[in-house]
Amino acid sequence: MKPLFDAGTIAERVADLGRAITRDYRGKDLVIVPVLKGSYVFAADLVRHVELEVAIDFLGVRSYGNHQQSSGVVQISTDLSHSIEGKHVILVEDIVDTGLTISYLYDNLATRQPASLKIAALLHKPARTRVPVAIDYLGFTVDDVFIVGYGLDYAQKFRNLPYLAVVADEDL
Ligand code: IMP
Repeated sequence: MKPLFDAGTIAERVADLGRAITRDYRGKDLVIVPVLKGSYVFAADLVRHVELEVAIDFLGVRSYGNHQQSSGVVQISTDLSHSIEGKHVILVEDIVDTGLTISYLYDNLATRQPASLKIAALLHKPARTRVPVAIDYLGFTVDDVFIVGYGLDYAQKFRNLPYLAVVADEDL
């Protein structure tokens, strides 16, 4: 397992994103929507840098197929607990890989008439894009490698690592 971004580097970047969100949403009715499970660590740190009265609601997502290969078939396993109609919403993802998951969720939430809908993602792997996605608040752009830690898993493990690491091909 090769370290990619250490805890300090991540903390600085996440604080920057939180400050940008604070600046952009002052005076607006904001709901932050972490997509479970992968984004729970990122989202928990991010919201503590958002100095606004913000609501937080969760989307639970189940995606089918091989873990390394997004099938694009996504099911909402736990839906939001409140309406987002008329609210400003930020969807928070751990990583945008092919873009299939976030674009499905974006289209789904867009039908619920939010006042605005934006995307925050900790990581983006542009080399694997199948559906182009505009990421409004992005932590880091990464190469086509498999990443774990800071909420991201491999077979449900390694979410608790306090840093981001690359899993070697021979370990996958
Ligand atoms: P997409 O639909 O291909 O964009 O995939 C998004 C989801 O696949 C993410 O929310 C992760 O759960 C998972 N994923 C994609 N790449 C990685 C990775 O490098 N490490 C861990 N999970 C990943």
